[in-house]
Amino acid sequence: MKFLENKKILIIITGGIAAYKTLDLIRKLSKLNCEIKTILTKSGKEFVTPLSITSLSKNKVYTDLFSVENESEMDHISLSRWSDLILVAPASSNFLTKISNGFSDDLASTVIKASDKKVFLCPAMNVRMWEHASNKQNINTLKSYGYRILGPEIGEMACGEFGEGKMLEVDEIINQLEIYFKQISKNKKLKAIVTAGPTQELIDPVRFITNRSSGKQGYEIANSLVENGFDTTLISGPTNLKPNDNLKLIKVKTGEEMHKKTMELLPCDLAIFTAAVSDFKIKKFNKEKIKKNKDQSFDLDLNPDILELVSKSNKKPKIVVGFAAESENLFDNARSKLEKKGCDLIVANDVSNNEIGFESDFNEVHLFYKDKNIDDEKIPKNFKSVIADELIKKITNKFNFFND
Ligand code: CTP
Repeated sequence: MKFLENKKILIIITGGIAAYKTLDLIRKLSKLNCEIKTILTKSGKEFVTPLSITSLSKNKVYTDLFSVENESEMDHISLSRWSDLILVAPASSNFLTKISNGFSDDLASTVIKASDKKVFLCPAMNVRMWEHASNKQNINTLKSYGYRILGPEIGEMACGEFGEGKMLEVDEIINQLEIYFKQISKNKKLKAIVTAGPTQELIDPVRFITNRSSGKQGYEIANSLVENGFDTTLISGPTNLKPNDNLKLIKVKTGEEMHKKTMELLPCDLAIFTAAVSDFKIKKFNKEKIKKNKDQSFDLDLNPDILELVSKSNKKPKIVVGFAAESENLFDNARSKLEKKGCDLIVANDVSNNEIGFESDFNEVHLFYKDKNIDDEKIPKNFKSVIADELIKKITNKFNFFND
C-alpha cells in the first residue's frame, strides 16, 4: 500500500449502523501512515462517538458548521484544502440526497460542496432504499459531478434483510483508495478511446439510415474510465447525452468519420467499441431531396468495420474490446465475432430482451475473452452505469492495467 502512505484523508461519517466499520477503517488507514481527520454528522453521532474516533485517528473530530472554535482553527474551506481525498463512509441515503441536490446545511455537506478534491462515497442502506428510483437518480447525479461511488455490496443487512446495500468491506475500500492514488501518481496517464452511439448515413439532405442505439452504455463506460484515471476520448455518433466534463468528446455523424477520428487517435492503451456503427452507407449521396414520384431505389456500400480494422492494424492498442449486440445464439455469435474481429474481449448483450440494451437504462452482459485461460463471465442485470464500472474493474484487473 505504498501509494496510500502519508496521504491526508478527510473521512465523513454519516448516520448508519455501518459507522462502526469506519472505526476499523480509520485504525487501518492510520497504520498505513495516512493522516486522518474526520467530520461526524449529527446522525453519525448516534452510532459512533467523537471520543472513539479521536482515539483512533489521534485528531480532533469536527462536527459543527458554526463553531467559533473550529472556524478559527480550521474552517470548512481549509478542511477540504488540507485533504488529498474526501471519503464519506458510511454515506446514508439521506446524505446522498442532500449532496446530490446541492444542499449545504451542515459541516459535512458544506465541505463537499466547497471542495476541490476527489470525493469517494461508500453508500450503506437498506436494499429497498438502495433500489428506490430516487436513490438511483441521486447516484447518477453524484456520478455526473465526478464523485466516485464505492459499493455497496450484496449481503445480509443489520435490519435482517438481504440484498444490495451493505457498505463495502473496509479492506476493499482501502484497496480502491490505493488504486486511485496509484493511478494519479503515474506521470503518463493511460490513454483510452471509446466509440458510442449510432451513426447516421445520409441518403439525401433530409433522410438518413440510423439505428436504435442511445449511446448510454458507451457514455457510462467513458465516464467510468475517466473516474479510473484514464485520459479518455469519446468518439460519439449523434445522441442527446452529456458526458463527464473531464473527458474529450469528438462528435461525428457517419461511420466513415468515426473510423477516421479513431485512426487519428491511435496508438492508445485501451479502446472500447460500443458504437452501433451502421453496417451500410449510401453508395451515392443524392444532393437533392428524393421526390416520392421519382425512382426511390439506392445502392448501399459496407461501412468500414472500425473494430476489426483497429484490432488488425499495426497500431493496435494494448487491449481492444468490442461489443456484440445479438438477438439470437448469443454465445456462438459472440465467440465467432471475437475470432473474426481479432479483439481481446467481446462484451455481448441480448438485444431481443426489451428490458435491457437499446434505449433502456439497464443492461446485462456476457464477457468472452480471447485468452483461453480467462473464463467467460457475466455481469448480471443492472443500471448501465453499474455495468460500466464493473466492466472497467474487470478489464483493468484482468489485463493488469495498474500493476507495473
Ligand atoms: N463495429 C465497428 N464498425 C462497424 C460495425 C461494428 O466498429 N462498421 C463494432 C461495434 O462497435 C461493436 C462490434 O463491432 O463493438 C460488433 O458490432 P455488431 O453490430 O454487433 O456486429 P457487426 O459487426 O455489425 O455484425 P452483425 O451485424 O453481423 O452482427
